[in-house]
Amino acid sequence: MIDYDPYAEDVMADPHSFYRRMRAETPAYYVEKYNAWALTRFDDVWMASGDPARFSSTSGTLPAQVLTKEQPVIPILNYVDPPQHTELRGIFNTRFTPRAVNAMEQSTRNAAVELLERGAAQANFDFVDDFAMPFSTRVAAEVIGVPSSDMPSMLSWMQRFFGHDPDAGSMTPDGIAALEEVNRYGAELTRERRRHPTDEPDAINALLHHEKSTGRAMGDEEAGMHLGMLVIAGAETSAKALTLLVSLLARYPDERSRLLSDPGLIEDGFHEALRYDNPTQFLCRTVAQPTELHGMKLSPGQGVMLLYASGNRDEREFERPEVFDVTRRPARILSFSVGRHLCLGIHVARLEARVALEELLARFPDYHVDFGGAETIRTEFIQGYTHLPVELVSS
Ligand code: HEM
Repeated sequence: MIDYDPYAEDVMADPHSFYRRMRAETPAYYVEKYNAWALTRFDDVWMASGDPARFSSTSGTLPAQVLTKEQPVIPILNYVDPPQHTELRGIFNTRFTPRAVNAMEQSTRNAAVELLERGAAQANFDFVDDFAMPFSTRVAAEVIGVPSSDMPSMLSWMQRFFGHDPDAGSMTPDGIAALEEVNRYGAELTRERRRHPTDEPDAINALLHHEKSTGRAMGDEEAGMHLGMLVIAGAETSAKALTLLVSLLARYPDERSRLLSDPGLIEDGFHEALRYDNPTQFLCRTVAQPTELHGMKLSPGQGVMLLYASGNRDEREFERPEVFDVTRRPARILSFSVGRHLCLGIHVARLEARVALEELLARFPDYHVDFGGAETIRTEFIQGYTHLPVELVSS
């Protein structure tokens, strides 16, 4: 009998052993405690992610919304279905195209170089605190339009939002308070921009441009929620993913050598790291229409857990899924989702990974990771490093 509960200690400590058995034995697994279904096979997660008519986002997508129902659901991009989603996504799309994002390459590279050079002069360099978090925050701040003087607050909101109480195992009251603060901050950013217009191609101006072009006055509070969402979504996941890649290249030196001899493989390596060890274990949907899956009846109102981390190791989709191979180039992975909610920041994440790794490997090809000093976060939906001591060794 499989006894799966995403909040259980044994699941958080070794989720993959549960996922493997669920994929084989009960691919649609019912978790009674949360009245929710856990989907573990690649094809099922792919299908449900791309079918908002049957699997809706309007009751939220975070476990704290759909499973424990601690976090309120507000009508922002992540938590709406078409047609509302189509309008909101249209506001930001232009800011996130490959072309718009590639225009940020030089500033992104400058940030990477500056942080690495400062890090090399430090006695103790922590890849998370001294590189990944400040780097991803700087890039996201540029995309959104957050002034650099507010980056420390941005970091603190993210940390509070993603910080979990090990005893409660889920969203903390302080995390919810951080979300409210960040939304108020977003409203203030909007008010300030109305008072002092700029022509920066950032997300704040994308919102103001939408108001002008459609005639729909959005109001500072609504604009603030959309910007707050970007502050929360824009940096933490990228930082976790970058740190993961750096750690995996240290664990698998042959894979690091492949990237060193062909830096053109860095983006493939990044995707492979996300496939191999997806930091976001799952996000959720809610059943909107009666649906049958693997002989089970899914009823409207029930939660659905899309287990990306499991689907990305599905032996039906990938050959030797347990092997980390930077040359794999799979046709598809689940890490950025698929369909209408495909990660809006996918090109930003790719740019960050490529530039950061190019600069790191060019300067410190033999960097050394002190895994003994590393610290991890293990929660029901995010896993990854919170501290990763790295010695920056020049060749
Ligand atoms: C490696 C880094 C990243 C990963 C793995 C990632 C992953 C994801 C995933 C899985 C979703 C889909 C959620 C769903 O289907 O419910 C998503 C959505 C989203 N992501 Fe990312 N993300 C990353 C980086 C970023 C960055 C850098 C930004 C912005 C600067 C961003 C902004 C967003 C937004 C706004 C959405 C909502 C899109 C929508 O609902 O239409 N992400 N991301």
